[in-house]
Amino acid sequence: MKLMVLNGPNLNLLGRREPDVYGLKSLEDLEKHCVKVAAELGIELSFRQTNSETVLIDWLHEAFESKTAVIINPAAFTHYSYALRDACAAVTKSGIPLIEVHISNPHAREEFRQTSVISAVSSGTIAGFGHLSYELAIRALAHR
Ligand code: DQA
Repeated sequence: MKLMVLNGPNLNLLGRREPDVYGLKSLEDLEKHCVKVAAELGIELSFRQTNSETVLIDWLHEAFESKTAVIINPAAFTHYSYALRDACAAVTKSGIPLIEVHISNPHAREEFRQTSVISAVSSGTIAGFGHLSYELAIRALAHR
């Protein structure tokens, strides 16, 4: 199985940005862990981060065209990007699994974070388990 792990804006600052919320480990640490877990499960993983909505949408189109499963942390785009939602819907409605992940639990935070425009078009959502959210999502995909 092929898998893309896509990370949205500000996640390049993991480990230094609000460590009380997002933890002390860097994006590179997270990538290494995801690659290791995926390899153990026989999954080929491409791990990416961008601060650009356009680039995220282009990567979702790539997943759509290549029938690649997706784990996405859309970061703040979660809460308002209908363009990203439409790209996620293109993926899931063509039968490709897509899991939305969050490091924090957005439902326990500010009101604006309690809306996800992505959840309704994702195969499932895993949030609130810190960096472990990603590992849980990889394992969930492997079980499907
Ligand atoms: C986040 C939660 C979002 O509300 C926030 O904008 C992020 C990270 C998370 O992983 O907890 O940047 O997606």
